[in-house]
Amino acid sequence: MFRLENKIAMITGGAQGIGKSIAMMLAQSGADIIIADTNADGIENTKKEIETIGRKVLGVSCNVSASVEVDLLVKKSLETFHRIDILVNNAGITRDTLMMRMDEKDWDLVMDVNLKGPFLLTKAVSQIMMRQRWGRIINMASVVGLMGNAGQVNYSASKGGLVAFTKSVAKELASRNITCNAIAPGFIETKMTEKLDEKVKESYLSVIPLKRFGRPEDIAALVQFLASENSGYITGQVIGIDGGMFMR
Ligand SMILES: NC(=O)c1ccc[n+]([C@@H]2O[C@H](COP(=O)([O-])OP(=O)(O)OC[C@H]3O[C@@H](n4cnc5c(N)ncnc54)[C@H](O)[C@@H]3O)[C@@H](O)[C@H]2O)c1
Repeated sequence: MFRLENKIAMITGGAQGIGKSIAMMLAQSGADIIIADTNADGIENTKKEIETIGRKVLGVSCNVSASVEVDLLVKKSLETFHRIDILVNNAGITRDTLMMRMDEKDWDLVMDVNLKGPFLLTKAVSQIMMRQRWGRIINMASVVGLMGNAGQVNYSASKGGLVAFTKSVAKELASRNITCNAIAPGFIETKMTEKLDEKVKESYLSVIPLKRFGRPEDIAALVQFLASENSGYITGQVIGIDGGMFMR
């Protein structure tokens, strides 16, 4: 297991699904945790679970697309922990429909949460990491940001943008010993995918060589490595976790 003692990890969207699993696994590796999410009840539940494994947790209600809330989140985090070593930009949403039926507001909302959110968080947190001369930034992209998907022009564009953002940030911050990488999950079983109809799920399964959907822990295991000292020579990369669905 990759150890993260004395590290402080901030995870957006950590109240449920992939983000919660990441928060749990980083805490099990020894990190103290900051959870930023819009779901206050979910934050409380995750917080309790992390506390049972003996780590400190700060839960903050925060919309990642609102700069005022992000600034407040960073302020509270510094007051509590005095540093931030690991940032996982995981919060994300879908508003799926064919482009012809897609409203401008659903385009804007998805871009705001999935792309502007990571920009606001990364800008604020990287200033702290620069002073520390150490940092790990991990962005949750998606396989559809690499291959496109009908019915998801907003979501796939936001995730493709996040991939390009990751590479640019990696180049800007490398000299300060801060790495920035993206993960591109395929189909992972969470509330986000639960709502898809059975036919859509079957069609995804038919193109997954490993013949199963992913689990949040499959993603958390890579985050644990990317957040650790051991990944220090990896930056600007996009790593797929999709059961072989998309091979580059
Ligand atoms: N589940 C999948 O198959 C899959 C595949 C590829 C990528 N992803 C990505 O992984 C990430 C996590 O997905 P998930 O499946 O766990 O989703 P989820 O819907 O289960 O969880 C997302 C979390 O983000 C939070 N959130 C939403 N909007 C927010 C905002 N504006 N500010 C702060 N928090 C906000 C939600 O409250 C929730 O706790 C997302 O970025 C998603 O796009 C998921």
